[in-house]
Amino acid sequence: MKKYYTFSDVFLIPKMSECRSRSELSTETKIGNITIDVPIISANMDTVTGKEMAVAMYKAGGIGALHRFSTIDEAVRDYEFVKQSGAECFVSVGVNDDSIKRAIALKRAGARHFIIDIAHGHSAMMRHTLEVMRNTFGTDVYIVAGNIATPEAVADLAAWGADCVKVGIGGGSCCSTRVITGHGVPMFTCLVDCCEAADRAGVKVIADGGIKSSGDIVKALAAGSDFIMAGSLFAGSKETPGEEIFRDGVRYKVFRGMASTAAMIDRDNRNRADMPVGEGVKTSVPLKGSVSEIIKDLKSGIQSGMSYMNAKSLSDISIVSTWGVQTNSGHAEGTPHILGEK
Ligand code: XMP
Repeated sequence: MKKYYTFSDVFLIPKMSECRSRSELSTETKIGNITIDVPIISANMDTVTGKEMAVAMYKAGGIGALHRFSTIDEAVRDYEFVKQSGAECFVSVGVNDDSIKRAIALKRAGARHFIIDIAHGHSAMMRHTLEVMRNTFGTDVYIVAGNIATPEAVADLAAWGADCVKVGIGGGSCCSTRVITGHGVPMFTCLVDCCEAADRAGVKVIADGGIKSSGDIVKALAAGSDFIMAGSLFAGSKETPGEEIFRDGVRYKVFRGMASTAAMIDRDNRNRADMPVGEGVKTSVPLKGSVSEIIKDLKSGIQSGMSYMNAKSLSDISIVSTWGVQTNSGHAEGTPHILGEK
């Protein structure tokens, strides 16, 4: 049986570097028609990306994906707020009866960058929505579709009309999909396999879920991803829409999975009795600073990673990188472990 690894199971091997100053290494890239300074997208979750977060992400050099758990009118207003602030963003739709209506309203408002987002994206409903959106909008729009976790799914979504696929099932910080359903694929091997398929199909890849640090971002890019999406890295930052809580003198913000029971209750106004089991958890995280500080540190970490492998650009990373598989003690050695510290 094949072994699948996740980020902390692998390490990148340093190479002879010609880099003089890591700050000179460019992390700029393009997603659709939008140029961004770092390949980082804030997750389309209702405690991560609302309109203020989308504006802050764009101004910091990344891009935000507005969540889809709002009415069509609210989504249009949020998108217009982002545009009027001089920013760009992705807008999200699902695969239900309202999704095409929502996409048409958002396109009419000017949106051109869409995410069709469902928990299990390799599905007949995804196929239907992708094909209808492609037939309706032609090549006027850039479509990300997900989430998926297999090379077969990459090939199918590409054939159904996706420009980019969002890869990752069950690896997110607030996910319990693997616990509840037994399904999902450890991220690093998942990305290596899916990125090979994406290369063959001519689509881009967003690595989504389980990224805890800039080191994980470098590993995701080394596996072949073009961009990463993150939720918990940004949860608690000033601009997120999460509800604030004050506990024992500390300010927290709520962060929750979109398939958590709490999110389903709020969203669908349903009572617990007739709800499916949640596949996500709800928690709260201490308030962090602004998203611009988080992006600044992530960018600096990516640049440093590039200097260790002698990558001159983001697209170089997957070409020049080599990695190995480490033991648990190798992983422990690679995290701070000061002797005698209390
Ligand atoms: P991180 O690790 O960056 O992951 O916080 C963010 C991603 O997690 C996914 N997501 C979920 N997955 N149940 C799941 O199984 C959920 O309730 C849930 N909510 C979010 C999503 O892909 C997000 O971008």
